[in-house]
Amino acid sequence: MQKMWSGRFSEASSKLLEEFNASINYDKNLFLQDINGSIAHATMLGKCGILDKNDSKKIVDGLNEVLKEIQNDKFVFKIEDEDIHMAVEKRLSEIIGADLGGRLHTARSRNDQVALDFRMFVLNEFKEILNLLLNLIKTLLKKVKEHKDTIMPGFTHLQHAQPVSFAYHLLAYCFMFKRDIYRLKDSFKRNNFSPLGCAALAGTPHKIDRFEVAKNLGFDGVTSNCMDSVSDRDFALELLFDISLIFTHTSRLCEELILWSSQEFMFISMSDKFSTGSSIMPQKKNPDVAELIRGKTGRVYGNLIALLTTMKSLPLAYNKDMQEDKEGVFDSVNTAKTSLIILNEMIDSMSINSENMLKACKTGHLVATDLADFLVRQKNIPFRKAHFITGKCVAIAESKGLDLSELSYEELRSVDENIDEDAMRVLNLNNSKEARNSVGGTANSSVENQIKELDEFLNS
Ligand code: ARG
Repeated sequence: MQKMWSGRFSEASSKLLEEFNASINYDKNLFLQDINGSIAHATMLGKCGILDKNDSKKIVDGLNEVLKEIQNDKFVFKIEDEDIHMAVEKRLSEIIGADLGGRLHTARSRNDQVALDFRMFVLNEFKEILNLLLNLIKTLLKKVKEHKDTIMPGFTHLQHAQPVSFAYHLLAYCFMFKRDIYRLKDSFKRNNFSPLGCAALAGTPHKIDRFEVAKNLGFDGVTSNCMDSVSDRDFALELLFDISLIFTHTSRLCEELILWSSQEFMFISMSDKFSTGSSIMPQKKNPDVAELIRGKTGRVYGNLIALLTTMKSLPLAYNKDMQEDKEGVFDSVNTAKTSLIILNEMIDSMSINSENMLKACKTGHLVATDLADFLVRQKNIPFRKAHFITGKCVAIAESKGLDLSELSYEELRSVDENIDEDAMRVLNLNNSKEARNSVGGTANSSVENQIKELDEFLNS
């Protein structure tokens, strides 16, 4: 078969080259963007008088035929066609004739064509992933609203630190995902410019209207420098980074879900729908879904590093290296979407064991900071000294195998006479939680504000 670019060649390509060079096996994913881009291009060529209006219409009709064939699985993808761009153009020429089909590529190169197609794909994924994150926040918020009074230990260094509500802990994740959503929106805005019409690298002598194409395809405008536009894959890198940071967050959430569903914690229980068993140990119920999402973080980071490395040091403008941009993006997008959908379902269906959370709060002297804060606020003791006094109390509790909150008034007062009856009131989990009512704190009044902020965000 003759290649579209075979004019200067006298020998046919090697089969090995053909297979190595082709991207059609994966860039066929871009068929819709490719055809929509070509329709917008052909329409503009007609409007600008570069193509005869009738010819332009026949090309558009032909492209719609090709689209139908692909959508109805009638289209045969062939490795000899190299990529989706040439495959579509070749089929178009078969349908409407080579003379007419051969006019579509006027004032365009595959370099701006692939930049356009891939950009449109990526822009759409910013939106799709954003919507999945919105769903996840909604599901988390449902649990948040049910668990404002469910007290659990807050941790630092994975050691018991201070009591918090389960609602508050989940809210922390809601705000991570909110930032992820803003990041996706920012990425979308920054990249929503059309590169079509940049041609090979330097623009075109044809009197095209790039703005018309951009408007028809839903872009905010056109890119400014053609050389940059055909060399640029920042949009794909941004998507890979945005997904990577989402996975940083989901991996932390999944890690906690795994810990919390262990025998050691027993704070939550995954529904059977989202748990698996063991082939040998009949009693096992494993949180495979959460582990897999945690594990998939590796490939998502890998895809980001791979494309960063491919793009590093590339001379301008287009280089074939850049064909390596697609598979990692497709993989990260699929991984992110399936992971977010299943994570959402898993969280929605898990059950919360409030009693075990409360029981866990009875160890680890969670209210120690409250005693120190009491001495500062009520007795005007410098914080460092208050910290030392409380430390002494903790030591007594430890020596008796008790929690600080279980020591008697006399035992505490023996450490320092500033510890009076009022002090005993702060050694209470709920009082401790409610005392932390500073902006962003775990008290219900603050949690209510955080919920309100997220509700407004979801409704905006
Ligand atoms: N298949 C190519 C890619 O994905 C399309 C652009 C090829 N351009 C070229 N001049 N060889 O990058």
